[in-house]
Amino acid sequence: MKFFLDTADLAEIEEAASWGVLAGVTTNPTLYARTGGKLADFHNHIKRICELVSAESVAMTRDEIVRDGRELAALAPNVVVKVPTMIEGLAATKQLASEGIPVNMTLCFTVPQAIMAARAGARYISPFVGRFDDIAEDGLAQLADVIAALGNYDFSDAGVNGESVEVIAASVRSPHHVAQAALMGADIATVPFATLKKCVQHPLTDRGLDSFLKDWEKVQNA
Ligand code: E4P
Repeated sequence: MKFFLDTADLAEIEEAASWGVLAGVTTNPTLYARTGGKLADFHNHIKRICELVSAESVAMTRDEIVRDGRELAALAPNVVVKVPTMIEGLAATKQLASEGIPVNMTLCFTVPQAIMAARAGARYISPFVGRFDDIAEDGLAQLADVIAALGNYDFSDAGVNGESVEVIAASVRSPHHVAQAALMGADIATVPFATLKKCVQHPLTDRGLDSFLKDWEKVQNA
């Protein structure tokens, strides 16, 4: 499983990239708004993180989504355009994929949505985990269903350049979500900075390190 950071914060991206485990970044309008960024600066902001970025279209019709997608894809060769899983989004995804522009279909909650996204040519599909938990449903069970269903088929004829679709576990809120996503075989987990940090921490690691350091001090003073 690869790790993406779910953020638009450049400092967080820089810090997490220095840990050596980061394979990409996902953003969304909420995350960009949280940085205090303005619309006029959006393309520049994306360019600054375009080494690792996927950028989301906020348009609602297929033509507008395709137009946004083309603009975003022109910012850098490795931009992935995020498109919501809805009818207009499917149609736009089909068009963008046919132009060789990779799409991440986001706000995906069900198996039929995921299959349709893959059929439309999505390069990535993002089933949301935490938002199911928010409404007292089991987000991890839903993610497991999506991974199992997609695994039954070969979608390589639908996507960009024969590349097969990858599942991004999204709306990840805890190391438990990350662990379960990995056990299910999710290709990627996109994780907020604070959660990614928690993923490397464990009290037994801290305790062990503490006692190693104390014992080493004894050796030095012996
Ligand atoms: C995914 O790409 C989304 O940006 C994100 O994971 C949403 O997470 P949230 O439900 O915690 O807002």
